[in-house]
Amino acid sequence: MRRWRPDPLYGLLLALCAASAGALAQSVTKHMGVASCSSNVCHGKLTEQTDRNVALNEYRVWSRDDYHSRAYKDLSNQQSQAMAAKLGLPNAATAKICLDCHADNVPATARGPRFQLSDGVSCEACHGGAEKWVESHAQKTQTHKENVAQGMYPTEQPLRRAELCVSCHMGTRDKLATHEIMAAGHPRLRFEMEVFTFNQPAHVVIDEDYVRRKGRIEKMNLWITGQLENARRYLELLQTRITVSDSFLPEFALYDCFGCHHPLDKQRWTRARAGAGIQPGTLRLQKYHLTMLEAITEVLAPDELAQLTASADGLVRAGRKDVATLEAAALKLHSWIDAHDDWTRRQFSPADIAKVRKAVIRYAAEDRTSDFGAAEQVVMCMDTLSYAANDHDRHKDALKSLYDAVGRASAFDPTQFATVARSVQGQF
Ligand code: HEC
Ligand code: HEC
Ligand code: HEC
Ligand code: HEC
Repeated sequence: MRRWRPDPLYGLLLALCAASAGALAQSVTKHMGVASCSSNVCHGKLTEQTDRNVALNEYRVWSRDDYHSRAYKDLSNQQSQAMAAKLGLPNAATAKICLDCHADNVPATARGPRFQLSDGVSCEACHGGAEKWVESHAQKTQTHKENVAQGMYPTEQPLRRAELCVSCHMGTRDKLATHEIMAAGHPRLRFEMEVFTFNQPAHVVIDEDYVRRKGRIEKMNLWITGQLENARRYLELLQTRITVSDSFLPEFALYDCFGCHHPLDKQRWTRARAGAGIQPGTLRLQKYHLTMLEAITEVLAPDELAQLTASADGLVRAGRKDVATLEAAALKLHSWIDAHDDWTRRQFSPADIAKVRKAVIRYAAEDRTSDFGAAEQVVMCMDTLSYAANDHDRHKDALKSLYDAVGRASAFDPTQFATVARSVQGQF
């Protein structure tokens, strides 16, 4: 079972999961450590190899350019030390809550002889424990399907990949960058699957051979997958009754950061919110990914838009009521998302891409994305879909003014953002 869902079968499924977790504990798959991947006959070549399926210089790309290889080391930098001091942690580099996202923090029983926590977000943090496939996957006769059957994580599948990235870049019930952690100085988390894929220095070459083995993921599909998975994970978190320790307060990290943190002279309440029955001064949930899904739905399933919008606004209203109302509202949207996973695999025409992009910039122009987090998603979407539509160059200037408008959260002005969106709207 992949996802948590409180249905009548839940108790039974839990029992089954517990049973299989018990079985797993006896035959836990070991994580072998980066040293098991990085030798110069394996993934540690200095340059890209062209006579093999894969480039074999992945270790070099990761260790030199990829932030994931520094994730553990950064737990000892000044910022982390200051955070640890504020949180009363003896050391961030030994604290489970930090290691769970900044390293491949598997239990001691799952650590092979060459495993090092200091590898940070290592190969196996993404590709899965290698004990059962570390030998066989190098054989030319072995297929990717066989690797996956031996425990390699299917990073080539859009939804599974998004699920993996979002587990650290948004968090899960078990590892959350809480408001306490944020207030101690952690950067605010934000994620957009396509932009972050682009930003992670590529250690994979998508050529004909790759496409034959694993297929191609178009940018539009990767973007939609990310929106669906981010929204789903957020709705899951809303169903887990997380409250601040020793407090009656809900976990602030699940609300819109900028709902509370913004200068008093830059007022956010707009007509669009009044229409949704959201009164001035409402403590608001994050609607960023749901807003993107509304734009997608407007194009792909127009007759479902009214219901989705009503559910999303209902969720925000539920966020100030009681836990049961909030969970019910989150569950309803969660089911809606589960029913639309086929959008991740759908083929999109250039016209579809153009229409979604138009819808998103219109939302911004109409001042419907005046939360900083939503504005950020608008801008990343316009960037991504311009690459997807193959006309990025033509929109360089427009994209630059949009990026400038979300350059610094502390300087963000929602009215100004809508004005910029209106000024470039005609170009898209
Ligand atoms: C095990 C947790 C974990 C997983 C899984 C993970 N990341 Fe990260 N990621 C991190 C951490 C922690 C950092 C920050 C590292 C640092 O700078 O110290 C980071 C940083 C990044 C950065 C650099 C951010 C910046 O500010 O430029 C990108 C890009 C990124 N991740 C993309 C991805 C993508 C794409 C995936 C999925 C394929 C992914 N990550 C999966 C934990 C993770
Ligand atoms: C839910 C996962 C998660 C948890 C828990 C978490 N982090 Fe992070 N951390 C991240 C991700 C993801 C990034 C990269 C954010 C980005 O650039 O988008 C990051 C970035 C950072 C950075 C900035 C790195 C840089 O130099 O750019 C520091 C410092 C940091 N984390 C320290 C900590 C400490 C200390 C803890 C424990 C108190 C902690 N983190 C807990 C996921 C997490
Ligand atoms: C943050 C997650 C992440 C980390 C860390 C990571 N990878 Fe990857 N890797 C991916 C993703 C995503 C892909 C592209 C999807 C795919 O082909 O499975 C990929 C692709 C690959 C491929 C290409 C496979 C092919 O079929 O062409 C190889 C080889 C690879 N990774 C090896 C490594 C090695 C070795 C390391 C450590 C030095 C590493 N990866 C670290 C996420 C990661
Ligand atoms: C419900 C309102 C609320 C929400 C939502 C909220 N915060 Fe806070 N935040 C507070 C309060 C109250 C403080 C304590 C302010 C103080 O000590 O002066 C605080 C403090 C902080 C601080 C430390 C400021 C300082 O001066 O030391 C940071 C950083 C921070 N929050 C980040 C965030 C981030 C990131 C989010 C979203 C993930 C967020 N907050 C969501 C209410 C909120």
